[in-house]
Amino acid sequence: VHEIHTQLRNHRSIRAYEPQPLDDSTVEEIVATGQAAATSSNLQATTVIHVTNPETRQRIAAVTGGQKQVTTAGAFLVWCADLNRSHRVCESVGGEMVSGMTEQFIIATVDVSLAAQNAVVAAEAMGLGICYIGAIRNDPQTVSDLLELPQHVYPVFGLCIGVPAEDPEVKPRLPLAAVLKRDVYTTEEDEQAIADYDRTMQDYYGSRSANQKTTTWSADIARLVGGERRPHMREYLAERGFEMR
Ligand SMILES: Cc1cc2nc3c(=O)[nH]c(=O)nc-3n(C[C@H](O)[C@H](O)[C@H](O)COP(=O)(O)O)c2cc1C
Repeated sequence: VHEIHTQLRNHRSIRAYEPQPLDDSTVEEIVATGQAAATSSNLQATTVIHVTNPETRQRIAAVTGGQKQVTTAGAFLVWCADLNRSHRVCESVGGEMVSGMTEQFIIATVDVSLAAQNAVVAAEAMGLGICYIGAIRNDPQTVSDLLELPQHVYPVFGLCIGVPAEDPEVKPRLPLAAVLKRDVYTTEEDEQAIADYDRTMQDYYGSRSANQKTTTWSADIARLVGGERRPHMREYLAERGFEMR
């Protein structure tokens, strides 16, 4: 087991930050390291908006339902799936890009996620804390307007990075048996694994230093998937050029 494994297994999202802003050079180092991630056919369908304007950050925080880490983190980045650049590149060499393919949407979204996660690992290696912010998709049109995103670009998630001002416990993950299968998809082992995990999470939620609650993972997940979430996404994406053909 390498040092990097220990770092990765100690990941926890940080939602309280020291007030100092991150230097541009630190942000550049983190994003450049993220850029080195594998990328489908070397397409590099990622564009990162480093949001430094305090008013823009306030407005994005409002979109997220007032999540305070969006305004208090040392830096706030919006990771965008970007097929606009490939449109321009294609045109510049006299071609015409096909757009609206579901496969392109998957490729761009995966590219962004891999680059962002490597950036996260880089930031955490520097002792910084991070928190992904999917809640920017509560109102992706407002975020697109604020960031002047062109067609064929959508904001996948925000990312807070900064000096941690809290030291939360690591959140346990599912037993490996639920996640890692041999040769074919099986479910027999899941019932026990999930029951064990429910107990683990009940203990974790009941004893952690902040935000204690009494719930199980199963109950949380049932609540999460029992309602339609962000039903505007399909129409929003179609309008932005991600028609999912
Ligand atoms: C794509 C994505 C979006 C997320 N969005 C939010 C968010 O809007 N607000 C938040 O506080 N945490 C958000 N999170 C953090 C998750 O809640 C967190 O990763 C998960 O509960 C596991 O906890 P851990 O990261 O501390 O291990 C997001 C995570 C991911 C991967």
